[in-house]
Amino acid sequence: MDQYRDFAFIYDELMNEVDYDGWVRYIEDIIKDENAQVQNILELACGTGNLTIPLTKKNYDIAGIDISDEMLSVAREKAEKEGVELVLLQQDIAELDFDIINLDCVLCACDGFNYITYDDDLENVFAKTHELLKEEGIFIFDISSFYKLSTVLGNNTYGENREDVAYMWQNYFDDEENLVEMELAFFVKDEDGKFDRFEEVHQQRAYTEDEIVEMLEEAGFKNIKVYGDFKLESPKEDSQRIFFVCRK
Ligand SMILES: C[S@@+](CC[C@H](N)C(=O)[O-])C[C@H]1O[C@@H](n2cnc3c(N)ncnc32)[C@H](O)[C@@H]1O
Repeated sequence: MDQYRDFAFIYDELMNEVDYDGWVRYIEDIIKDENAQVQNILELACGTGNLTIPLTKKNYDIAGIDISDEMLSVAREKAEKEGVELVLLQQDIAELDFDIINLDCVLCACDGFNYITYDDDLENVFAKTHELLKEEGIFIFDISSFYKLSTVLGNNTYGENREDVAYMWQNYFDDEENLVEMELAFFVKDEDGKFDRFEEVHQQRAYTEDEIVEMLEEAGFKNIKVYGDFKLESPKEDSQRIFFVCRK
């Protein structure tokens, strides 16, 4: 079952409580803290452009890549409405193929790398990113923490009943493979007031900080910093979002 197919068209509605402006500010704080010179950014797993569009408005030159045509079509529609020009490519980042090199920054936000479930694939993404960056180029990304995927989302079930959309979200955590399987069922109100049902199964990999740091070192990255929960400080045991910042 494809991920982010029908879900793409209600993704922004369900993410409406995420503070993307704060996310953009945090990314800019990191860039400032690192004293990095950033004009161009390649954004991996850019989705519906929730960071791509505001960062473009801040005059960064951005190209976004995502595997889901549907997420990209929503991004295109939003960009057009806001009069923003975006370069968007449909690609599996596990087989990243981008021919512009000497990039200032590569970015991946909000779980993009949790969707890369095999070590080999993530190692390939890191190696390719290293290749694409300029000397001293900066790589910024975040993942949902091992704690969040194994314990918070873990084997729990969530649901929400909104006016126009309702969903059931059942999780199963496999502690041998460190994979969480998310079974999502959505009910979306159509023009006649009836609810259409669709389902998606998502799989996310829980990575420890040490696993990621080891892979980054293997790919040749240096000055690796690990932050938790939108602070420029080390993560705590119960941090749910872990940020990695490193340089070529
Ligand atoms: C939770 S969404 C985050 C989207 C966006 N970064 C944001 O902050 O709203 C995860 C995104 O990862 C994308 N994705 C998952 N696996 C991918 C892959 N192998 N290659 C490229 N994109 C992928 C999905 O299509 C989806 O758009």
